[in-house]
Amino acid sequence: MRARRRLLVANWKMSRTPSAAAALARALVAIPRPAQLDLAIAPSFPALDRVGAALAGTGITLAAQDVYVEKEGAFTGEVSASMLKDAGVALVLVGHSERRLFRGEREPDFARKMERLVEQGLAPVYCVGETRAERDAGRTADVLRSQLAALDGFSAPPSGLILAYEPVWAIGTGLPATPAMAAEVHARLRAELAARFGTGVAGSTRILYGGSVSPVSAPGLFAEEEVDGGLVGNASLVASDVAALLAAAAAPTTGAARA
Ligand code: 13P
Repeated sequence: MRARRRLLVANWKMSRTPSAAAALARALVAIPRPAQLDLAIAPSFPALDRVGAALAGTGITLAAQDVYVEKEGAFTGEVSASMLKDAGVALVLVGHSERRLFRGEREPDFARKMERLVEQGLAPVYCVGETRAERDAGRTADVLRSQLAALDGFSAPPSGLILAYEPVWAIGTGLPATPAMAAEVHARLRAELAARFGTGVAGSTRILYGGSVSPVSAPGLFAEEEVDGGLVGNASLVASDVAALLAAAAAPTTGAARA
């Protein structure tokens, strides 16, 4: 029996129109899903309504890719947590490396986003991960610790908090972290959570791996006790790949957690 329910989050990024997203959602709904697994889909904002309609009553969670730092007001083009809640969203990505890289967002922004989500009872999927240069320089642990500083203002974890370890060098490259690398970093993140919020929180918080999760890489990654599922980009756009990932996530782990 696993300590935590496994979760796959499909991050469709900026890759499907609302009608194409709705069709893909219907295809994913049709895949038989093991009862012990959770699945969430994060389409683009304009597709939330139609994907949400396709997911209604299926038990699949509607997720969003981002949220704005402010509650409401004159912020043209932005989307608030209350809007997401009203649209039926339950999970929201925060801190994705593409927001860090292309939008220059940093930990203080992510802290504010998570505060907005907490106000609305929405759960954050907080994404962390090092670049290739940072890993090569031996700085992975420091980088992850500084990214977790987005949680500094929280005396208790944001309700429903999920972490996602997404090494930047593995995203969209076809070169995932090895299962051992992922397990090592997840264990480190769990230790950081324990130091902040206690071992109970650390033991129950799901930590997903993301970065070139595919039908080829998933069985090894998901065999790790420390890997509670995946945050998946490219493969989540192909229904047969999602079916393979769900099967991999439902398989038993290889045994004891690594030391
Ligand atoms: P890929 O699965 O395409 O590597 O993307 C990972 C990711 O960034 C998910 O958020």
